Amino acid sequence: MVKAENKNLEKEVLLKNLYAPHRDFKNSPLFIPGECTSIVFGEGNPDAEILFIGEAPGKMEDIEGRPFVGQSGRLLNRALEFAELKREEVYITNIVKCRPPNNRTPLPNELAIGRDLLLLDQIRIINPKIICTLGSAALTGLTQKGYSITKIHGSPLTFLEYVLLPLYHPAYILRNRREAPNFLADIKKIKTLL
Ligand code: URA
Repeated sequence: MVKAENKNLEKEVLLKNLYAPHRDFKNSPLFIPGECTSIVFGEGNPDAEILFIGEAPGKMEDIEGRPFVGQSGRLLNRALEFAELKREEVYITNIVKCRPPNNRTPLPNELAIGRDLLLLDQIRIINPKIICTLGSAALTGLTQKGYSITKIHGSPLTFLEYVLLPLYHPAYILRNRREAPNFLADIKKIKTLL
């Protein structure tokens, strides 16, 4: 137990150090001019077995400085419950840490900067067993491969030494309710992959 707590603390410190150079967010290379008022770094268990990666913060996330706290976040919370996962046990972040103007899709260079400057180090520090990408931007931005999310969702892949489970983005499910059963079936697979 003490060992586990130490590991948690170590990872927390490493994550804090990773975030530190971006605290002054307007001078960070992660900053996207327009509507961004904060860097949304991520939250959860620093020693999580499961890491969720979304696209970019929306309005609520930008205001609160926390990932997935708006409508998509509420759906994600319900899906986690359905999969018998506790939000505080997992780690949740986005590939892009600043809110793009008008919630537009992140540009290829924004995805690349988010990946190379921060996300890959977050993954290395947390060292999860499973990475779950939420939506197409996170999947293709992270892997730099042209996967089609409608074809590949729910099929485990390998990324570096990690199992990567591509999931639909909750916002897509809010717009396409018919896909909700597929989203839930996919998220239910997580525990079987641990
Ligand atoms: N959509 C995302 O991709 N990330 C969030 O944090 C919120 C909505």
